[in-house]
Amino acid sequence: MEGLTTTKAPFIEKAQAPGQRFIHQPYELYSEENHRAWASLYARIQDRWRRHATPKFLDGVAKLNLDPQRVPRIEEINRFLSPLTGFSAKPVSGYIPAFTFFDCLRNRDFPTTITIRDSSKLDYLPEPDMFHDVAGHVPMHTDKAFADTLVRFGEFALSAALVIQDLKDKELQQFRARSIVRALARFFWFTVEFGLMRSGTDIKVYGSGLLSSYGEISHSVESSEVQRYPMQLEWVVNQHFEIDHYQPLLFIVDSFDHLFAMIDELETWLKNGRLNNVAPGEPTVSDADVESFLTAKI
Ligand SMILES: [Fe+2]
Repeated sequence: MEGLTTTKAPFIEKAQAPGQRFIHQPYELYSEENHRAWASLYARIQDRWRRHATPKFLDGVAKLNLDPQRVPRIEEINRFLSPLTGFSAKPVSGYIPAFTFFDCLRNRDFPTTITIRDSSKLDYLPEPDMFHDVAGHVPMHTDKAFADTLVRFGEFALSAALVIQDLKDKELQQFRARSIVRALARFFWFTVEFGLMRSGTDIKVYGSGLLSSYGEISHSVESSEVQRYPMQLEWVVNQHFEIDHYQPLLFIVDSFDHLFAMIDELETWLKNGRLNNVAPGEPTVSDADVESFLTAKI
């Protein structure tokens, strides 16, 4: 059986070789081991979701009707998801350049990995996999306010491409693009991927990087090793992050309306030049990410 295991899937390699980014989900290729990995990941995280996830996420899980035993079919997820917010999960072969990724969000498509991690390494995986994308992200897309916020990210990226392409000097375009994309990536990381939300006197998790991590979801809320601060835009866009260990610093929003309003503010900063030279450091913005903003058709 060929299998669709992360970094070991010939089907994915065949799509990547000619640069095919958008693919279909060849469901018959999942091995029994792939299904077992899904079932183990899904079963062990249930209790942590109930304790720490925002109720909006738990509602989303119920609405999507995810199969606890077998890797879900993307088509079936979309049958439940699309009528709720217009979002669809869109299978991809791997890396998507930054502008293309955000432009998918603007069109209510969510680029979704279809491979799943090796069942012997359930805990840590540097690459996104289907458990992260489908179990961690997609339930949030059933919430209207959150879905609108993702679209707002896409609109921001479009405004950024306009600002960058308007510059006459090629070198300046590159420099600005790198800074603006770094700011956007940091903002996305500390919200959509690793965000916390105030819920009365509690703190709940809405970030998908946390929601798909059995260990980090509890750590993010309970550990005294984590600094938790109210969201501050000037801090977030200048704050570097590393992806290979639990996050030592997290930011709290009040609501998705609050988050939406912060992207409005981010766009004002873009237009006022306040994102032109944000602090250096992680994440590294690749040449392909920069190029995607410079060459975006707008
Ligand atoms: Fe993610």
